Amino acid sequence: KNIVILISGRGSNMQALVQAAIPGAQVAAVISNRADAAGLAWAAAQGLATASLSHRDYPSREDYDAALMALIDTYAPDLVVLAGFMRILTPAFCRHYQGRLINIHPSLLPAFTGLDTHQRALEAGCRVAGCTVHFVTPELDCGPVIVQGAVPVLDHDTAATLAERVLAVEHQVLPQAVADFVSGSLSIRGNRVYRVENTV
Ligand code: GRF
Repeated sequence: KNIVILISGRGSNMQALVQAAIPGAQVAAVISNRADAAGLAWAAAQGLATASLSHRDYPSREDYDAALMALIDTYAPDLVVLAGFMRILTPAFCRHYQGRLINIHPSLLPAFTGLDTHQRALEAGCRVAGCTVHFVTPELDCGPVIVQGAVPVLDHDTAATLAERVLAVEHQVLPQAVADFVSGSLSIRGNRVYRVENTV
């Protein structure tokens, strides 16, 4: 299965996914909306195909997403992974990749969609926090959940220490979700994801 990974920065989730070397999955390309994304240099150094497409070069979100779709589709992806891709995607983009577009989000959804998830979890007094890998639907940070990982919130946590603890779990659940997808064992019904036995 061909996988295209979209990033905007550091790309540690992308690295975890590449290093997981999931059987049956090949990373066809790593694409960033920022040419200077650190993750892009790492991917290129691994010999992976990389590309960048700046949103600043397009007059509207619709125009950018159309160009991004065209670029992604040159790699014929079976799965598109948003791994720290910090852009809201148009409904047209989400529809085009429906059922083959997943995102990792640093909270236990449906709590704390959007940004600053760790600070908001601390302010809400949460005793657990975590991350979610989900299929992408047009509504931001919604869509059927594939895997979640939870961590405790400790008394003296700051947003930074909590983020670090959650990130370690992100690096486990993202490859897990992709492996589940690639093995063809996921089926979506309503907002729920089921794992079906592979009958060979
Ligand atoms: C991760 O916490 C991801 O969940 C969030 O942005 C961060 C990206 O980190 N959306 P990295 O680029 O994968 O290191």
